Amino acid sequence: MQIPFYDFSRETSEIGPNIHAALERVISSGAFIMGDELKSFETEFAQSCACTYGVGVASGTDALFLALTAFGIGTGDEVITVSNTFAATVLAILYTGATPVLVDIEETSHLIDVARVEQAVTEKTKAIIPVHLFGTCAEMDGIMEIARRHSLFVLEDACQAHGALYRGRPAGSLGDAAAFSFYPTKNLGAYGDGGLITTKIRDLYEKLLLLRNYGQKDRYRHLMIGYNSRLDEIQAAFLREKLPHLEEWVDKRQKAARVYDEGLGEINLIKPDLAEGSTHAYYLYVLSVDDRDLLRDHLSSKGVQTLIHYPVPIHKQQAFKKVRIHDDLRNAEKRSSQIVSLPLHPWIREDEMSYVIESIREHYR
Ligand SMILES: Cc1ncc(COP(=O)(O)O)c(C=O)c1O
Repeated sequence: MQIPFYDFSRETSEIGPNIHAALERVISSGAFIMGDELKSFETEFAQSCACTYGVGVASGTDALFLALTAFGIGTGDEVITVSNTFAATVLAILYTGATPVLVDIEETSHLIDVARVEQAVTEKTKAIIPVHLFGTCAEMDGIMEIARRHSLFVLEDACQAHGALYRGRPAGSLGDAAAFSFYPTKNLGAYGDGGLITTKIRDLYEKLLLLRNYGQKDRYRHLMIGYNSRLDEIQAAFLREKLPHLEEWVDKRQKAARVYDEGLGEINLIKPDLAEGSTHAYYLYVLSVDDRDLLRDHLSSKGVQTLIHYPVPIHKQQAFKKVRIHDDLRNAEKRSSQIVSLPLHPWIREDEMSYVIESIREHYR
């Protein structure tokens, strides 16, 4: 049996006709940039995460960078985040000229350690980026409390958390702003690159509209230095077709995760203690085992594709010499050597999961 990590053909067999109709709709409209599809999608997506405003941009990376820029963050400032994240979280901070300050994750989860955030705050700190890694939200109540006390902005990196809830509230509605990615494999993915910022703050929203569109309010009237970072009409139209399925697809991910949970039982899983009313959106299903590489080799020999998110923490990467490390990052380092992500998507079948479970059990027999 061959079990790929993700299978786009199953997605298209469910929604292919709607996608083709959306493409046709945009092409015949003759509007490709900043038209009605984008406007509608921004409203629909913002509403889906209990937010007032949505600003579509070119990628999740740009969503992070433009939100930080709209906060007014730049050279000389510090932004606190984690080392076990996709590089874009830290790249976005560096693009602004600010210094990323990396704090460790909790021992029992893959999420930012709130106590360490408090210790890392200096007079230069301007913002915190909690990363809702794998589909579970960081401990936002604690983070917001620290942020309010020190007058800091909070930008959720929700690029992996479409459809997750934190104490009954959707990811994307928990900080001052949130960055989403629509990279194709995400819980809500485009057929290309795309991103979006959600916020409830009107001033921030208005600034973001300028920043993503060359800094212009009206055509050829530039109020600030802006960028070309728009979510185009074709991607917005595709995303509008997919958004109504998000809840059902996240539900399917959760059901699949339960099958793995039950089948793998005693195998060491990273299971953040979810607070009451919080849910895991299972962008990724991640095991944590001491012989990770051996397990991966075994699964590969059985035709099961696995990935590692992420094998090298940011502070160990050649490119990121300018980060500041707060205290030590021992949990992030340990985790990066143990984690392995299993195939999981809304269309994975029971027999495929049984095969993955049996292959893992065989390895540990
Ligand atoms: C945690 C995290 N942050 C940021 C990004 C960047 O998003 P994009 O690839 O759309 O630029 C991603 C996705 O790839 C991500 O997983």
